[in-house]
Amino acid sequence: MITGLLPLSEGKILVLGGSGFIGRYLRARLAGHMGEGQVVATYNGAPFPGGLKFDARAEDLRQAVPGLEAFSHAVILLANAHPDDCARNPEASRVLNVTAVKAIIDRLTESGVCPVFASTEVVFDGQKGGYVENDPVNPILLYGKQKAEIEAYLENHAPDALILRIANVYGSDPAGSGVVAGWHKTVTGGAETVKCAHDYIASPVHVEDVAEVVIRLMEGGRRGIYHVAGPQPLSRQDMFETLLEEMRRTGSVEVVSCSIDDFPTGEKRPRDVSMRPDKLMAATGMEMRTLRSACSDLVAAAA
Ligand SMILES: NC(=O)c1ccc[n+]([C@@H]2O[C@H](COP(=O)([O-])OP(=O)(O)OC[C@H]3O[C@@H](n4cnc5c(N)ncnc54)[C@H](OP(=O)(O)O)[C@@H]3O)[C@@H](O)[C@H]2O)c1
Repeated sequence: MITGLLPLSEGKILVLGGSGFIGRYLRARLAGHMGEGQVVATYNGAPFPGGLKFDARAEDLRQAVPGLEAFSHAVILLANAHPDDCARNPEASRVLNVTAVKAIIDRLTESGVCPVFASTEVVFDGQKGGYVENDPVNPILLYGKQKAEIEAYLENHAPDALILRIANVYGSDPAGSGVVAGWHKTVTGGAETVKCAHDYIASPVHVEDVAEVVIRLMEGGRRGIYHVAGPQPLSRQDMFETLLEEMRRTGSVEVVSCSIDDFPTGEKRPRDVSMRPDKLMAATGMEMRTLRSACSDLVAAAA
């Protein structure tokens, strides 16, 4: 039986994949909220102080993380999170994203720990956009199919789990990960032209907002599916032009508008995978930050 009903101050939190982009922010935010001792996090290839080594393809969660019963929630971030890599390596990515994650879910439910699963916007086919939580999933990318398989597994084996369909995540650390910081490096590196897709639309969400809503959802004892998305649908070209405006570099960099199909992606990409965060905002009381304000913060941080 899943408990997961302990207030966060009473149960510990396990972050599986704490060394990744989202994991680093979530660990820091959780430690500030609950105290270092209440948060345990794992890594595979990228160690960090206090982290537990866990290769989910080769080890049993119970051996890697003793005393699972002490945790109220386990946030499952570990994954091969690169759609093209999943498409190129279907069997290897399945071992991690499906087989290993199902085994983790089994161990968690046996121990009464609530799984908090990081799913994705690409469980949708991109035909409609503006997706809400009860829209039917229909993934066209292998990565999205793997995530949708886990969502279905949770429905059957851990109906009280929390499923977070996370949109494209970016941050405002100029030295950090995510598409916006990457573009900032490209522009400050002197690029004269940048190719951007006008027909790939998503609802980019700030990594610090992701960390904050995960905590609020766990604290509120929430269950079921939430769309963790930014406040507005934006094409890649809209996003890049917003960054250029905040950098006061409009006109000095040529934006070459193109189709997402002009990029060498392993599989044809869905078009509009934007999701609505209304349910999330109502449940958490969070206002999701706009891309413009985050770009402004990034530019200020880089100055
Ligand atoms: N970032 C996004 O835009 C986004 C959007 C939607 C959904 N998501 C989902 O959110 C989750 C976190 O994303 P992210 O961007 O933080 O990913 P990331 O930076 O690629 O991090 C992946 C994490 O998985 C761990 N990992 C990889 N192989 C492993 C293995 N064999 N055993 C155990 N751990 C392993 C990595 O550990 P090491 O680094 O130590 O090897 C790392 O901690 C993923 O499930 C992703 O699908 C992300």
